[in-house]
Amino acid sequence: MLLLLFLPAVQTCGGDGDPVEKVEKPAATTEVRRTDPLRGLKLYLGYCFVCHGQKGDGNGPYAAMLSAVPADFTDSTYFKAKTDRELYDFISKGGIAHGKSMHMKPFGFQLTRDEIESAIAYIRVLNRHERISRGEGSEFSGADIYRNSCVMCHGESGAGDGRVSRMLNLQVRPITPARLSEMSGAKLYNIIQDGIPADTAGTGKYMPAWGASLSEQEIINVISHIQTFGQ
Ligand code: HEC
Ligand code: HEC
Repeated sequence: MLLLLFLPAVQTCGGDGDPVEKVEKPAATTEVRRTDPLRGLKLYLGYCFVCHGQKGDGNGPYAAMLSAVPADFTDSTYFKAKTDRELYDFISKGGIAHGKSMHMKPFGFQLTRDEIESAIAYIRVLNRHERISRGEGSEFSGADIYRNSCVMCHGESGAGDGRVSRMLNLQVRPITPARLSEMSGAKLYNIIQDGIPADTAGTGKYMPAWGASLSEQEIINVISHIQTFGQ
């Protein structure tokens, strides 16, 4: 347990092709704009869900490994008292800078200002216990979805070596043509839509459910994209 407490500290800045690698220092800003919560949700599932949970209640699959309890974004009373500016500062500079847990990393080193703002927009949706509707008719390509929502765990070419996997020391099975051919199209679709049940052996519980943020067509697009791996 003690060893695990230090794992998130080894978060590296290797080149997994993640578009956010470029950010060099926490973005300074005086004004926090309310931006797209749907984009925020996609980002949240990639970077925040592991600790804060699919529903935002602080109960993510990695939470039990931590010495501090991840914030519960469904606690409306607590978050009503926090300004967007305070949230931006906390997410950007991290827990230590605010006398809080080291497990909450300074995301300003890996996310852009826009990305942090969209994460805040989604946190506000969770604070208000609302749901957001997926945009229809403006589908992203499979490659775009993979880059924005999957690469942080599955890695650039599906090897399972993305930034979040390395940060949490997760063993993520590589996505290969052989592996995909073992699964029916319907099974693959369901895994992406609903995630993998928490009681399944292995690291499956770290796979988020994308049903609320990706449209049917987008799930089909991203499946076509991962089917090109290893070819
Ligand atoms: C490795 C686990 C982990 C990850 C990943 C993580 N957090 Fe946290 N977060 C925490 C913990 C633990 C706390 C509680 C810190 C404390 O109270 O000492 C926290 C607290 C917070 C808070 C509360 C600040 C307050 O005022 O109390 C916000 C906002 C937050 N996280 C946003 C995010 C966002 C956005 C992401 C993704 C970009 C993220 N977190 C990813 C562990 C994590
Ligand atoms: C927070 C990390 C994380 C993110 C983000 C993530 N996954 Fe996963 N995914 C996992 C883990 C962990 C597994 C289980 C792997 C294993 O069993 O070793 C998994 C399993 C899968 C599987 C089944 C693989 C198999 O061999 O059984 C598919 C397909 C998949 N993910 C696709 C996606 C797609 C598409 C996205 C983006 C829309 C995505 N994942 C985003 C962590 C993630």
